[in-house]
Amino acid sequence: MAKILVTGGAGYIGSHTCVELLNAGHQVVVLDNLSNSSEESLNRVQALTGKTLDFIQGDIRRAEDLDQVFNTHQIDAVIHFAGLKAVGESQQIPLAYFDNNISGSISLTQAMQRAGVFNLVFSSSATVYDEANTSPLNETMPTAMPTNNYGYTKLIVEQLLEKLSLADPRWSIALLRYFNPVGAHKSGRIGEDPQGIPNNLMPYITQVAVGRREKLSIYGNDYDTVDGTGVRDYIHVVDLANAHLCALTNRLNATGCRAWNIGTGHGSSVLEVKNTFEQVNGVAITFEFAERRAGDVATSYADNSRAISELNWQPQYDLEDMLIDSWNWQKQNPKGYH
Ligand code: NAD
Ligand code: UFG
Repeated sequence: MAKILVTGGAGYIGSHTCVELLNAGHQVVVLDNLSNSSEESLNRVQALTGKTLDFIQGDIRRAEDLDQVFNTHQIDAVIHFAGLKAVGESQQIPLAYFDNNISGSISLTQAMQRAGVFNLVFSSSATVYDEANTSPLNETMPTAMPTNNYGYTKLIVEQLLEKLSLADPRWSIALLRYFNPVGAHKSGRIGEDPQGIPNNLMPYITQVAVGRREKLSIYGNDYDTVDGTGVRDYIHVVDLANAHLCALTNRLNATGCRAWNIGTGHGSSVLEVKNTFEQVNGVAITFEFAERRAGDVATSYADNSRAISELNWQPQYDLEDMLIDSWNWQKQNPKGYH
């Protein structure tokens, strides 16, 4: 069993990954500055698993914080979630995105190198693929500079990590390209808790369902898709969390840098998501059709065969599970962790 540093471990995907790591018998150290999360998520992770983890409130951009972690703990590998993730906000405050996501990742890898730790799993995104590619997207397809600054930081960090591993064979790096993470732990004790108005579809739907928002705006109904609304590959956050454990195992005896898509391989339209949510949860979602959202593509879903064959990973949950679990979390926690 290994000791894993989880940066951003108090956040949505990080907290679910901590549960799976602890359940698998690993020791977990979380470094998070709580800029987009609450320590309560980690209290709940510990209550759910009956195990303890070490939490350090600190910043990946601060060498002192990182050195303190690596000097205090014998870390075997790092899962790197910490960063900012709001596409719209990244257009308003690009420097904050360059600083947290790019400088933060450089500062983290520098500290890892000082400590002699070379195993890294990085949270990337399907947004790095060139929009000209046709779904299903596979890892050999070209990437391209995304038009938004958030996506730009993900592609830059992927490229930095690739170059780092080429220059120094001690590095073993997994780039996990997430499609659309949704859902929550079955218990409903941990889940997604966005600050302010949600940017993403699923938390918006659950907030309409719980009465925090009046109605869902569906951005565009004239795309070239099954019903005119955007198609995405929604992936249950617990399946996504487990992909990190599989990637860790894969990287233990490997060298170099390799990318894997983490999606179900199945696309669902916005209307299908809304209608299925209503059906499985028995809650009505008021909605209207609105203009297309700038920067959205019609269709994006994964070819996940590389992850299935190389990582020994397999998604377990379907769209209905994702929608039931998202609602279960929101219903039990109408105001999130607060
Ligand atoms: P999140 O905001 O819930 O979690 C990120 C965590 O990092 C938060 O707890 C935040 O407080 C922490 N953090 C931010 N900047 C930090 C810093 N400088 N130092 C220390 N901690 C810091 O987001 P999430 O949805 O759990 O996403 C995790 C990762 O996955 C992010 O890198 C994100 O870009 C990536 N990702 C997310 C999605 C998605 O749709 N949720 C899709 C693709 C990729
Ligand atoms: N949508 C709506 N109404 C909303 C929110 C979203 O109709 O209120 C639609 C979007 O137009 C899109 C679909 O729902 O068709 C999914 O949108 P999300 O914002 O949930 O997800 P995206 O696919 O736009 O973005 C996600 C991640 C980003 C990542 C991007 C590309 O949130 O971090 O995938 O991989 F960059």
